[in-house]
Amino acid sequence: MAKRALITGVTGQDGSYLAELLLDQGYEVVGMVRRSSTVNFERIAHIQDRLTLVAGDLLDEVSLIAVLRDHPPSEVYNLAAQSFVQTSWSQPVLTGETTALGVTRLLDAIRTVDPEIRYYQASSSEMFGKVLEVPQRETTPFYPRSPYGVAKVYGHWITVNYRESYGLHASSGMLFNHESPRRGLEFVTRKVTHGAARIALGLDDELRLGNLDAQRDWGYAADYVRAMWLMLQQDTPDDYVVATGETHSVRELCQLAFDAVGLDWEKHVVVDERFLRPAEVDLLVGDPTKARQTLGWCREVDFPGLVTTMVEADTAMIRGQLR
Ligand code: NAP
Ligand code: GDD
Repeated sequence: MAKRALITGVTGQDGSYLAELLLDQGYEVVGMVRRSSTVNFERIAHIQDRLTLVAGDLLDEVSLIAVLRDHPPSEVYNLAAQSFVQTSWSQPVLTGETTALGVTRLLDAIRTVDPEIRYYQASSSEMFGKVLEVPQRETTPFYPRSPYGVAKVYGHWITVNYRESYGLHASSGMLFNHESPRRGLEFVTRKVTHGAARIALGLDDELRLGNLDAQRDWGYAADYVRAMWLMLQQDTPDDYVVATGETHSVRELCQLAFDAVGLDWEKHVVVDERFLRPAEVDLLVGDPTKARQTLGWCREVDFPGLVTTMVEADTAMIRGQLR
């Protein structure tokens, strides 16, 4: 019998890559989607006929219990969240309801319906925030710097708590930034690769950004969803940092992306204070030793390769729209 997995956030960047991976492994994949007045299945359109899509919302525990009862999974991947850091200052309560309390709702639904279900929590390097150690590892204390980071710390600890209180096979992946051509346009990598492509095609002349000095440990999303799956295949649940071990600035990102289209980034990028944050995470760089040694995980795509791929994908997409 095929294993059945439930993915919350299946319409998101990571949800789409994880769904592909699990389908390739022979899983039956159930994707939870929330009600919307317009369909937003762009990232899963190519695999939609192989997925079972069911309605549910992290804000509504009744819907979570119904999904688990109607489509009993052996693994649940909780990827759903209000995931954009900047928005978490303008919508802090919604961010807390979804990204923090949503985790409790789902864990409690699992405990009620079937405590044998294995659970993955999408935790984040944003929990390290104003970092207390470089590089950041599983034992580094948290110091979140945004309502989103605070909510993720709650989600992480409630996962650990349900594991310790009820013996759930619940693991938390502390994933550093991971990107792809499917990344939302509001995140800085995609904003830069899409912006560079538009400027190269003569559609825009400038790209307005915030803090160019911020440094991130950027990897490729398809590499990172493999780590999620590996965590749930272990005999014992645990917490893991997933990262490349390298850090790069937004400035370097701009240089690589504009180089890829043969332009000088300094002639087009304009700093705009609207994109500065009330509190910033200046530097993230993770130590993935535990994931490498225990899970056998390693990344396959490096930072220049990632940026070039994203610029090429954006250029091709925009050209297609112009035709
Ligand atoms: P994303 O593209 O923003 O996707 C978020 C998903 O959550 C979407 O499918 C969204 O549905 C869904 N969602 C939002 N609110 C919901 C609700 N109330 N009920 C049910 N579904 C809801 O995020 P991502 O980049 O794939 O990230 C996946 C997860 O990993 C998130 O939890 C994120 O916080 C975490 N994470 C991401 C990174 C990264 O670098 N990408 C790093 C560390 C952790 P709609 O399509 O309907 O909006
Ligand atoms: N979005 C954005 N837009 N960020 C900018 C801009 C801009 O115009 N200019 C500079 N930045 C800087 C931000 O201030 C931040 O320091 C950095 O670029 C990265 O911003 P994002 O791409 O928005 O990602 P993030 O690091 O805040 O959050 C992402 O990674 C987290 C893991 O560390 C999200 O995917 C989170 O959901 C995830 O948990």
